[in-house]
Amino acid sequence: MWALNIKSFLTINSLNFTSQTLVVSTQNFSKQTNYTMNNDQALLKPITLSGGLELKNRVWMAPMTRSRAANPETKPFEIHDKYYAERASSGLIITEGSQVSKDAVGYINTPGIYSKEQVEGWKGVTKAVHNKDGHIFIQLWHVGRISHPDFHHGNLPLAPSAINPNEKSFTPEGFKETVTPKAMTLEDIKQTIQDFKNAGKNAMEAGFDGVEIHSSNGYLFHQFFNATSNVRTDEYGGSIENRAKILFEVIDALKEVMPEQKIGLRLNPSLNGVFGMKADEETIPTFEYIVKKLNEYDLAYLHLSEPFTDVSDISYLVSHIAKHFRPIYKGTLVINAGFNQEKGNHVIEAGDADAVAFGTLYVSNPDLVERFRTGADLAQPDKDTFYTPGEKGYTDYLTLKESKVS
Ligand SMILES: Cc1cc2nc3c(=O)[nH]c(=O)nc-3n(C[C@H](O)[C@H](O)[C@H](O)COP(=O)(O)O)c2cc1C
Repeated sequence: MWALNIKSFLTINSLNFTSQTLVVSTQNFSKQTNYTMNNDQALLKPITLSGGLELKNRVWMAPMTRSRAANPETKPFEIHDKYYAERASSGLIITEGSQVSKDAVGYINTPGIYSKEQVEGWKGVTKAVHNKDGHIFIQLWHVGRISHPDFHHGNLPLAPSAINPNEKSFTPEGFKETVTPKAMTLEDIKQTIQDFKNAGKNAMEAGFDGVEIHSSNGYLFHQFFNATSNVRTDEYGGSIENRAKILFEVIDALKEVMPEQKIGLRLNPSLNGVFGMKADEETIPTFEYIVKKLNEYDLAYLHLSEPFTDVSDISYLVSHIAKHFRPIYKGTLVINAGFNQEKGNHVIEAGDADAVAFGTLYVSNPDLVERFRTGADLAQPDKDTFYTPGEKGYTDYLTLKESKVS
């Protein structure tokens, strides 16, 4: 039963991320293109964030849920220390999405950042990464309606409006259909803002260099931004400004517990047809408004994703996100989705981004930076172990050095 369910979950998730790769990925995992094999590559140049954090390169690790916090407290432990430390040569590691409260969870075995035990667990991770001269931000996550009552003692998940995303949720009891969530009251919104603030405080205590707000991929903030998932008639719905309001309230709350230069955030403006998101004519103007308003802050960075599916036939969506948003955003811009070494160097050289976040490549190539430096072959990731508990497919990918020894 369990095996069957986890298999379905993995299939769906692989499909999600495979469908994005249809468009965004030109990665050839086995053989690298013969791009400049030296330190002059744009990707390998250092970069300093506006708060003064000096990063040794522009090869960042994208946030990736790996579902290894398989313990009652959903806290990170030694295997997390090892996994992240192995990837410490990345200019900046962004951790997997980590729920800011019990209400925020939507998948099994994802770590939290709201309890004392979780903070202690994360301390091990930050220490392990810093000991290897790495830098690490934690991704703060609230899934909103992409959850299930099984996670909430039978209560409904929270969302801007009572609209079922018609997605699947992988619950402790297996794979289930999502439900119609509870429309958040003003009190729920206030509490959620407080939860992000508390998570930010915890992140500082745990030793993170900063936080990334997960305002992307169809989760809570994205549900507020989008007019098909947010039909509220109060100050959090209706106009573009109202739909974006909660994000800025969370940034303002986080600023009370850390300098704004330690805050990054992630957006996926052309997401359509996955994670329950349906884009419309107002989608891009909404993201343009958000990105313009972000210029009023001095944030660590803005993290954008290129479209996860082909949107070239949809007149009101943007196919080239970095190109479209670079002229609008004044701060550090990191771009993700479907990049390989060649495309990564190119997007920086073209002036469309300052850094590139690599996801799947980082699953199987802990020494990705070294492989880019030397033009070495890349190892292929095993999709079947993306979300399974334990070390297999997590901490057993070898570096170039290790594979030469073994
Ligand atoms: C296993 C897996 C887990 C992911 N989990 C997250 C997550 O927790 N938060 C997030 O913002 N994106 C998540 N993503 C999306 C990645 O950050 C990234 O956007 C995606 O893999 C595309 O980048 P790539 O082409 O370099 O792999 C995940 C992707 C994968 C493959």
